[in-house]
Amino acid sequence: MLVDTFGRVATDLRVSLTDRCNLRCAYCMPPEGLDWLPKPDLLTADEIVRLVGIGVERLGIREVRYTGGEPLLRREIVEIVARTSATGAELSLTTNGIGLARLAEPLAEAGLRRVNVSLDTIDRDTFIRLAHRDRLDDVLAGLVAAARAGLTPVKVNAVLMRGINDHEAVPLLRHCLEHGYELRFIEQMPLDAQHGWRREGMITADEILALLKEGFDLAEDDPEARGSAPAERFLVDGGPAVVGVIGSVTRPFCGSCDRVRLTADGQIRNCLFATEESDLRAALRGGASDEELAERWIAAVRGKKAGHGIDDPSFLQPARPMSAIGG
Ligand code: 5AD
Ligand code: SF4
Repeated sequence: MLVDTFGRVATDLRVSLTDRCNLRCAYCMPPEGLDWLPKPDLLTADEIVRLVGIGVERLGIREVRYTGGEPLLRREIVEIVARTSATGAELSLTTNGIGLARLAEPLAEAGLRRVNVSLDTIDRDTFIRLAHRDRLDDVLAGLVAAARAGLTPVKVNAVLMRGINDHEAVPLLRHCLEHGYELRFIEQMPLDAQHGWRREGMITADEILALLKEGFDLAEDDPEARGSAPAERFLVDGGPAVVGVIGSVTRPFCGSCDRVRLTADGQIRNCLFATEESDLRAALRGGASDEELAERWIAAVRGKKAGHGIDDPSFLQPARPMSAIGG
């Protein structure tokens, strides 16, 4: 098992398949993009399959979520899903939705169970302003395809940015309700590559709720049902539809976090905000056995800190941006 010194057990593995992306969301990347990791640094499909297998078979991982950058840019995505679904872990994917129109069906057939799609606006001009690409129609088509392929409940992640899309909370929720998607708003975290995050610029969970209440009646859902899930859920207009609010910064859920991350270049991160990583790739390419890799992984999780400490004066933003860690 993967247990830290606070007794938290990691059962949810996030695997980044690439740091590349075909969008440039302002809360994540500068408009001109980033230098991508060189290909030899990326874990190969075989290496990913081996590490996921060790996580599931030896370390108690039950859920595996593929992320990026944009995981659908990885050519072997369907193969990786098919080979790792054989472990019995529950597989899901976080994507910007571009490419899902084509891939939702093959991914579902390969054993993928669910998707989370990032969608911050349903207005084309706002999309272009926020993501610096004219791809809204592709994302919306991807969502439709995901629902049709049975990758349900289709979850939608939205980040609101002041002055860009903070007028869209209500229309976004209306769109998701109409299509049967479960929308969750995430507070913007200091994980952008350009280090532009400012607390004053962040739309807080409280503000998100106030914005939503302009269009809907919200009632808190049973907090007991939340478990280790980061989203606080609210029944919309009496239910059964719900909306989630993830107060990553103002309402941290670090105490019940059950996640561990594997970056596209084979580093174990025990937290999104970790400043240290443990190099599984070097060990793997150096000929380590499954048992040695598992030992290294256990040690990496043991060293996990109590919380992200964004409010601490000594807080340091991690060197890696979100696009290279994976949601
Ligand atoms: N703050 C909050 N959420 C973010 N995401 C990416 N960057 C940030 C950030 N700085 C979200 C995306 C996507 C998921 C991978 O993480 O919206 O849904
Ligand atoms: Fe790409 Fe996701 Fe970053 Fe947006 S948030 S630029 S979709 S990696």
